[in-house]
Amino acid sequence: MSPVDHQRAELRLQKRQLRRALTEEEQERAAWQLARQLSTLPLFRGARHLGLYVANDGEIDPGYILSMAQNQRKSCYLPRLSKLKWRPMVFAKDHPEAVYELNRFGIPEPKTSHRNTLIALELDLLLLPLVAFDTKGNRLGMGGGYYDRTLSHLNRQKQWRRPRVIGLAHELQKVDQLKNKSWDVTLDGIITDQHFYPASIDA
Ligand SMILES: Nc1ncnc2c1ncn2[C@@H]1O[C@H](COP(=O)(O)OP(=O)(O)OP(=O)(O)O)[C@@H](O)[C@H]1O
Ligand SMILES: [Mg+2]
Repeated sequence: MSPVDHQRAELRLQKRQLRRALTEEEQERAAWQLARQLSTLPLFRGARHLGLYVANDGEIDPGYILSMAQNQRKSCYLPRLSKLKWRPMVFAKDHPEAVYELNRFGIPEPKTSHRNTLIALELDLLLLPLVAFDTKGNRLGMGGGYYDRTLSHLNRQKQWRRPRVIGLAHELQKVDQLKNKSWDVTLDGIITDQHFYPASIDA
């Protein structure tokens, strides 16, 4: 393992441990504060097709955001892994009567028709989890490369239509500076329970 890879692995362990050590009350409060922060932002208000995730491993929970968005008649989607690891994730519509199945990581995914499934480019706003971030929009994930592969076309070319990509995190997941790999997708911003960190001019 190269020194950089070693650093990334160490940082993952450290930050995952920190977020898992939060109490239920702390998680609950953080999730609520996150939803409050986000609800005031034009990038949320204007989004009609919204991608979110089911919290896992101490990740900040976007559950309140999901309910809020569904009450506002926004269409909400959750990631679905493909059978083949190298294929991008797709986004399956979630709704109160949805039926779920667990993916290979034990994370629930809505079972939906093809008609109710979008690719990343069709979303207006994608809210994604992360393990560590810096305020420039650099992101460290869990190490599977799932989001990087799914969003890789955003890095390669400027699309006239692309989703805003915003990381959700606990404030304690912030670091001074992350060294990105060539394939890491840069975020348009990060929202924590405490702050909004815009990282691109149009975030
Ligand atoms: N666009 C890509 N095409 C092919 N392989 C990729 C791509 N992006 C990432 N990978 C592979 O995925 C692996 C994991 O990447 P990385 O360590 O950045 O994961 P991560 O960002 O922590 O995970 P995730 O994206 O799931 O949150 C790397 O070994 C990398 O080679
Ligand atoms: Mg990455």
